[in-house]
Amino acid sequence: MHNFNSGPSVLPQEVLKQAAEGIHDFNGIGLSILEIGHRTAWFGDVLSEARSLVKELMNLGDEHEVLFLHGGATTQFMQVPMNLLDNSETAAYCDNGIWGSKAIKEAKLFGNVDVVASSKDKNHSYIVKNFSVPSTARYLHYTTNNTVEGTEWHFIPETNVPLVADMSSDIFSRPMNFSRFGLIYAGAQKNMGAAGVNLVVVRKDILGKVKRAIPTIMDYRNHIEAGSLLNTPPVFAVYVAMLTLRWIKKEGGLAEMERRSIERAKLFYNTLDSLPVFKPLVVKEDRSLMNATFTIEDPELEKEFLDECRQNGMVGVKGHRSVGGLRVSMYNALPLSSVEAICGLMKEFHARHSTVTMKA
Ligand SMILES: Cc1ncc(COP(=O)(O)O)c(C=O)c1O
Repeated sequence: MHNFNSGPSVLPQEVLKQAAEGIHDFNGIGLSILEIGHRTAWFGDVLSEARSLVKELMNLGDEHEVLFLHGGATTQFMQVPMNLLDNSETAAYCDNGIWGSKAIKEAKLFGNVDVVASSKDKNHSYIVKNFSVPSTARYLHYTTNNTVEGTEWHFIPETNVPLVADMSSDIFSRPMNFSRFGLIYAGAQKNMGAAGVNLVVVRKDILGKVKRAIPTIMDYRNHIEAGSLLNTPPVFAVYVAMLTLRWIKKEGGLAEMERRSIERAKLFYNTLDSLPVFKPLVVKEDRSLMNATFTIEDPELEKEFLDECRQNGMVGVKGHRSVGGLRVSMYNALPLSSVEAICGLMKEFHARHSTVTMKA
């Protein structure tokens, strides 16, 4: 199968094998990873290895803490402003896609939101480059990769206020200056493992500034103090994340992940641009290396293409339900051969249909 799912999505084969072994017999202890207590030394080792791999891959020091929390990235849309934004204060947000818009909606429950950059005027088909952030904003929030629309920030915005980023769909796909961020969050189910766990990396000095009472389970400080063991963590999802992080490190770290993403994306976009039956949906310079979005103008042909993908073992090519069209997700674990396969199918499809579309 060629797995172009947008998330949950493709994982390295060796991670799947190790995770399956861990379900039967974790590290040869005679028990499954699903059967051991989260406060045992066995799981403690998993958690601390996961935490130190995150720090190592992101090149972070002691000022940042790594947490593994429940609730997916959607919970962070609420937990971030609850911890960082008082009712009378303002946070700056970039509205560059469906997920950013959802984050804005939640932040408004906790304080004022200043939308400093929006690409809504053109269906979120580009990234706004020039915008300013008031120095009084508590933080600037943006989504580094827009999974649904297929755009990605290829730069870190310049600002003096703390940066908060939803990196759910491009986390660990490229080296970045992660120390510039006050808070990073990401659901694990794309580049980091199985659904069910959320990575939060937070700089400790931005916490403890709001006046409101924060429910115990929502307060990052409590999770830091408890070392991500405030309550029962999603043990299996943390285990798969640790195995995936180990794999990333073994394969050559973030520089190698980036090299592979560029190789996959170049092949895909060059093919897309050479075949007029397929129409790209976003501007060239802001294209995502993770999620390529495009369409075929004739809905009947689009359906036919999707059927052919399925017949050829290519899954996940249908676009998000909110925007339609087509989407090919190319996360870290996707082999180049899968991109070669879909490019081959697109060329064949184009050869069969280009004259029909041209006439129309
Ligand atoms: C960029 C981004 N943010 C947030 C989410 C929501 O994540 P979750 O379903 O884990 O809450 C997604 C899901 O695909 C996403 O791609």
